[in-house]
Amino acid sequence: MSQAAAESSSIAALLPTDTPAIGVACMRASGWEDGLNPAERAFAWATGFTGKPGSIAFLPGADGNLSRILFGLGDPDAPGADALVTGRLPGLLPAGSYRLEGAPDPVMASLAWLLGSYRFDRYRKGENGKAALVAPEGIETEEVSRVAAAVALGRDLVNTPANDLGPAEIEAAARALAERHGAAITVVQGADLERDFPLIHAVGAAAARAPRLIDLTWGPQDAPRVTLIGKGVAFDTGGLDIKPSSAMLLMKKDMGGAAVALAVADMVMGAGLKLRLRVLVPAVENSVAGNAFRPGDVLRSRAGLSVEIGNTDAEGRLILADALALADADAPEMILDFSTLTGAARVALGPDLPAFFTEDEDLAQEVAAAGARAFDPVWRMPLHQPYASLLESKVADLNNVSNGPFAGAITAALFLRRFAPKTKRHGHFDLYGWNPSTKPGRPEGGEVQTARLSYALLKARYGG
Ligand code: BES
Ligand code: MN
Ligand code: ZN
Repeated sequence: MSQAAAESSSIAALLPTDTPAIGVACMRASGWEDGLNPAERAFAWATGFTGKPGSIAFLPGADGNLSRILFGLGDPDAPGADALVTGRLPGLLPAGSYRLEGAPDPVMASLAWLLGSYRFDRYRKGENGKAALVAPEGIETEEVSRVAAAVALGRDLVNTPANDLGPAEIEAAARALAERHGAAITVVQGADLERDFPLIHAVGAAAARAPRLIDLTWGPQDAPRVTLIGKGVAFDTGGLDIKPSSAMLLMKKDMGGAAVALAVADMVMGAGLKLRLRVLVPAVENSVAGNAFRPGDVLRSRAGLSVEIGNTDAEGRLILADALALADADAPEMILDFSTLTGAARVALGPDLPAFFTEDEDLAQEVAAAGARAFDPVWRMPLHQPYASLLESKVADLNNVSNGPFAGAITAALFLRRFAPKTKRHGHFDLYGWNPSTKPGRPEGGEVQTARLSYALLKARYGG
């Protein structure tokens, strides 16, 4: 097993419910004074506690020791309230054990805490906070811990730089996951990849580290089939259409879609959902060398469609196309694909709001509901068919880019749809995969956006 896969995620676990702990009273901005004794109230007032979201007061006991903590929720029912606000606490509290009191949603509150306790410490130890949370009574502790650990696994993969995470290490991480859950895994590479997945081969050809298609399956053969696909570009230089340095700087995260797919798989298998899961990860490095694919090349895809390369930096849709063709062939009930696919989606929606595409109205509603439940938001964008003409080629069935500046996220989504024509229930997530700055429960760095949404969706459908 590679070091990347062996490295354990640094996320805290919930302590047993009976562990002695300091109470953290979650206070609404209005009426927080009511539950306090006069001395507590006076101290809170004197130190400027307001109950606004993320505010904190440390209350001393008679002996001067820390006796209780007040933590502001603001108005948790207000539109736009941050349901992960308790994710700030691990960064605010001194070492010790704590118990949340009065949290409106103890499951989300403790999950947020765990998500906020994540630190990427592979290369620099000792930054992890030592504030630990006691499991609230009456919640499914195991479930919360599993979800948090899966998120940490995905974040670790995104945060690990490309020198330590190439296609082989993505494969190692998938193998470790498969082994942990008793899933089957096969990997296609070399001459087989070149023959059967020509686009994946072409995109990965120039890298010193060989491209591959990872194919994981789990669950009973006769259960409803769900296939997850994640873009696994270990590093995206842009290829011969090379990126300027500012655009290349963060491209270690271009395997963020693969990290999401593996994190969802971890959650689904850990919970034992009643489905037959397949995870496809085309893992490549988009690099530059004499054997790199070129602008103007015409490549045959697995699906049989010929693709003219308008831009080697639109590599994600190429590798996803071949994976989608494989997924579509065995007619699953649902395909969800995840990728850091376009800068255009970020221009439209910013870093925090992944774009979501589907033609299936039922799936769109399930995604919206699951996103709200999991506090893992997305925004639906249209698969506007007339824009498919922007991908027309004079020499091939289609071009991999539109040659104009318009609707880049939509044309990418339309490109992908061509390769999974049979699957109606197909959701496509175009995400950033990164928190540009720390927010509660979302430390700066790699983020598996849409993973918790997807798990919530699958759990609602296949929870049994
Ligand atoms: N991985 C990038 C997209 C990306 C860039 C996602 C920055 C998140 C942040 C993708 O492979 C890419 O380079 N897309 C190009 C497509 C273009 C050439 C049509 C883009 O968006 O500029
Ligand atoms: Mn690119
Ligand atoms: Zn890319």
